[in-house]
Amino acid sequence: MPAFRLAHLSDPHLVPPEGETAFGGAWLSKRTLSRLSWRRKRSHVHRPEVLAAVVADIQAHAPDHIAVTGDLTNFSTEKEWIAARAWLTGLGPPGTVTLSLGNHDVLVREAAAAARMTGWAPWLHDAGPGFPAVRDRQDVVLINLCSALPTRPFSAEGELGADQLERLAAILRREHARFRIVLLHHAVVEGTVKPRKALRDRAALREVLRAEGAELVLHGHAHAPVFATTPGPKGAIPVMAVPSASARAGGRTPAAGWRLLEVGEDGAVGVVERGFDGAAMVETGRYRLLAQTFPLRS
Ligand SMILES: [Fe+2]
Ligand SMILES: [Fe+2]
Repeated sequence: MPAFRLAHLSDPHLVPPEGETAFGGAWLSKRTLSRLSWRRKRSHVHRPEVLAAVVADIQAHAPDHIAVTGDLTNFSTEKEWIAARAWLTGLGPPGTVTLSLGNHDVLVREAAAAARMTGWAPWLHDAGPGFPAVRDRQDVVLINLCSALPTRPFSAEGELGADQLERLAAILRREHARFRIVLLHHAVVEGTVKPRKALRDRAALREVLRAEGAELVLHGHAHAPVFATTPGPKGAIPVMAVPSASARAGGRTPAAGWRLLEVGEDGAVGVVERGFDGAAMVETGRYRLLAQTFPLRS
């Protein structure tokens, strides 16, 4: 019997509410560019019916917890936040869903502060504000980072910052005897995404993980299935990402998918991969990550 069953989905890029693709504000602002991009390509890629199929599939598997690693919105407008809150509410109660903010959720400066103040807060942390946010859940501890920040046009970079990394190191050290799952939006391993989409301080994050360890790192942003590793003190740490949860099949980016991660009492993780085949959700992979450093109960 798994001790903890976690579903991981990412980058739903919810279809903007009516009127939100109209251009407003300063010409060539970051939002304007993002709206152009939505009209030109993303509205064709991200389909509400695909996302609905993914969510229904996840709920049919009845996980203990759901991790959403960011990019709920596209332009980070207030209307989008309100719509995204409704979507989160449908996904699950805040206690069983953890959201990690993406670059599209804090696209512009005024959004950065406001996003954390809106109704999303209960899904970001148990006791906020501030990151990393720690959520104790049964035998595992979820450590939610915030890598999202407003950037110049054409950049989708992220950054954790020295303070957050320092607090992360202290949390990982304190929780070393538990199954530690780190969540963030941006990619961790070199070469996963293009430089203009990268986490600026990814090397510093990997150094913290190398020194303090973690049992699993989950991220989004890549819009593709990722299975990589980064060195830890006792062996390789799995670093995993999933496709966008709303990506249609047959497009340039991989079709929507999600993973079920079943953490066993021995610390091994059973992984089930599910994907959208153009008509329905099907199993696309099943494997097991062997326990290296993390028996939950000795
Ligand atoms: Fe995204
Ligand atoms: Fe992103």
